[in-house]
Amino acid sequence: MFTKKLTDTVLDNVLFGRKGWEKLNNSIKEKSYTSIFVLVDSNTKSHCLGYFESHFQHDFKLLTMEAGEPNKHLETCSSIWASLSDEKADRNALLIHVGGGVVTDLGGFVACTYKRGIDFVNIPTSLLAMVDASVGGKTGVDFQGLKNQIGIIREPEFVVIDSNFLSTLPENEFRSGYAEMLKHGLIADADYFEKLASAALSQNIPLDDFIAHSVHVKSEVVKEDPYEKGLRKILNYGHTLGHAIETHFLSHPTSDRLLHGEAIAIGMIMEAELSFRTTSLSLTERDRIKKVFTAMYSPVVIQEADKVVIKSLLQHDKKNQSNQIRFVLLEKIGKAVVDQLVSDDDIESAFAFYSA
Ligand SMILES: NC(=O)c1ccc[n+]([C@@H]2O[C@H](COP(=O)([O-])OP(=O)(O)OC[C@H]3O[C@@H](n4cnc5c(N)ncnc54)[C@H](O)[C@@H]3O)[C@@H](O)[C@H]2O)c1
Ligand SMILES: [Zn+2]
Repeated sequence: MFTKKLTDTVLDNVLFGRKGWEKLNNSIKEKSYTSIFVLVDSNTKSHCLGYFESHFQHDFKLLTMEAGEPNKHLETCSSIWASLSDEKADRNALLIHVGGGVVTDLGGFVACTYKRGIDFVNIPTSLLAMVDASVGGKTGVDFQGLKNQIGIIREPEFVVIDSNFLSTLPENEFRSGYAEMLKHGLIADADYFEKLASAALSQNIPLDDFIAHSVHVKSEVVKEDPYEKGLRKILNYGHTLGHAIETHFLSHPTSDRLLHGEAIAIGMIMEAELSFRTTSLSLTERDRIKKVFTAMYSPVVIQEADKVVIKSLLQHDKKNQSNQIRFVLLEKIGKAVVDQLVSDDDIESAFAFYSA
């Protein structure tokens, strides 16, 4: 389907399907770990552990955390560190994470810090974790209300991606992950963007090919710039406004909770307007982006009062330097540029474009 096949890609440690399980099982045999721990959350314990056990050939001890972002904090880490310690896990223990991005981010941080670092393996079970959190080695937890405030960048030994896990993933979580894949198309591959858009509309999604391609796009970017000094910032397209919107609606008692990808989808529409005004994205492409996202993601009403809060949250965006908000924008679909400055008028216009 794509010019680059998954097998010639990616970071060497990201493995897919049956081959992934084989490699994982064999390499664990070779490494002779002193003990193996598997971390799940309350949902992946019910929905994913059985499938994991049917593919994993080694004995392990199970660790469980509560599901969801509100549990991605140091207290959860403490209880896992305590369990590892009680079970006398040593430097040669292995921690395997079976879950979405919360489990892989938090588990990765626990593994990186326990006894100054033990090996860990990620087995992502949500679409978002497969296409995004699985690549790039970012681990961490939220702290004092700030997302991913504490963490470390370190690659897992392996990532095993098996799309069979997705059969139990709730629909809205699926759409949330799909938004990140559309983003991969927008920033790096126009042809991929169109394929994702038409597959979603026809409800006929070649999921394994798409997941592999997204992993490929992200890993190419991360390989060039592992510590986000330049190019890696393009992965933040839609995220500057998207994060502010996500944060605002998290604390908004009257509206439905917006998942990360749903908020980012709004951010990508708005930042298409910024791109039209700032980096010469064509009118046709700007409108195409809006059409694709509005076909998949329900509109969210942003009132004047919401707008004020979202704009003030923008000021806190971590990509700000010297008090100026810097955006990743598109020159065209498939080509992103970083560190773009926009005016207050542009931002007003982006809100108007979304709501029109
Ligand atoms: N490290 C990175 O580079 C990176 C990138 C993107 C996102 N993230 C992080 O990832 C997190 C979001 O990831 P997420 O969307 O996977 O969230 P999540 O881990 O909370 O998973 C979403 C929900 O789906 C459930 N779930 C997961 N797999 C399931 C399955 N197969 N069947 C049924 N239920 C399942 C989970 O229990 C949870 O309730 C955020 O904390 C974000 O900061 C990290
Ligand atoms: Zn994201």
